[in-house]
Amino acid sequence: MGVGDRELGVDVVRQRLAAARRVTVLTGAGVSAASGVPTFRGAGGLWKNRQAQQLATPQAFQQDPVLVWEWYAWRRQIIAECEPNAAHAGIARWSERPGFTLVTQNVDGLHERAGTKHVVRYHGSIWTLKCADHCGAPEWEDLSVPLAPLPPRCPRCGGLARPGVVWFGESIDPEILERSSNAAAGADVFLSIGTSSQVFPAAALLHHAHRAGAFTAEINPGATGASGAVDLAIAAPAEDALPMLDVRVRMG
Ligand code: OAD
Repeated sequence: MGVGDRELGVDVVRQRLAAARRVTVLTGAGVSAASGVPTFRGAGGLWKNRQAQQLATPQAFQQDPVLVWEWYAWRRQIIAECEPNAAHAGIARWSERPGFTLVTQNVDGLHERAGTKHVVRYHGSIWTLKCADHCGAPEWEDLSVPLAPLPPRCPRCGGLARPGVVWFGESIDPEILERSSNAAAGADVFLSIGTSSQVFPAAALLHHAHRAGAFTAEINPGATGASGAVDLAIAAPAEDALPMLDVRVRMG
């Protein structure tokens, strides 16, 4: 896509946004890339030669909880030093608009730090912990960096604590599933931003929106699992595209 095509794509999305009553945005790790948070797939996703898919699983935690916690402690440390970027800021402004829903796969909390309202955290938060033994203790927030000692313990039963995130092979909270799928099905415009669209069920939301009649667009510098299915793909970094849309759109 050339610069002219990109401008045209931005114009089309701008017009769709201006006319829409309900807008749903799905974000992934690419939205936080410009802030310095490593994405999962691609060069930055490796840690000690291991891929996220090998570490973010219940099996990996069962085998070696300290190793998995070291990875999360490393990510928490990086994220704590990052600031929200122009993409987070643009989405935060959109969230002021009635009928807007953000569903994020990101666990970094940068959307919230940018001031986005009513964030649907599809994969949980790296800043919350929960009891790995399901003792009944409610999830708790822990913002400490560095996180020590590892592994952290449940304050109620003393058992192992685990990150409050969704791992591969685990189910999404039914309430989150319902809110997200309602937001996808009810959207006039559905934007998929900075996600490889490879992880389900999150990646199914776009198809859901498309089937229900939404205009669908993607903002991503690379091709993704959804590129062939969207009405429009804008091949640009989110931190460049969002301010272009933001300047020209007066929503509400
Ligand atoms: P991925 O790492 O799979 O994909 C990141 C996407 O961001 C890629 O498509 C990149 O092309 C794109 N990207 C890179 N820089 C960008 C930029 N500046 N602006 C816009 N896009 C950019 O991350 P996710 O799709 O979020 O799940 O991954 C989905 C899930 O898989 C994550 O939530 C996590 C992961 O493993 C769990 O932990 C369950």
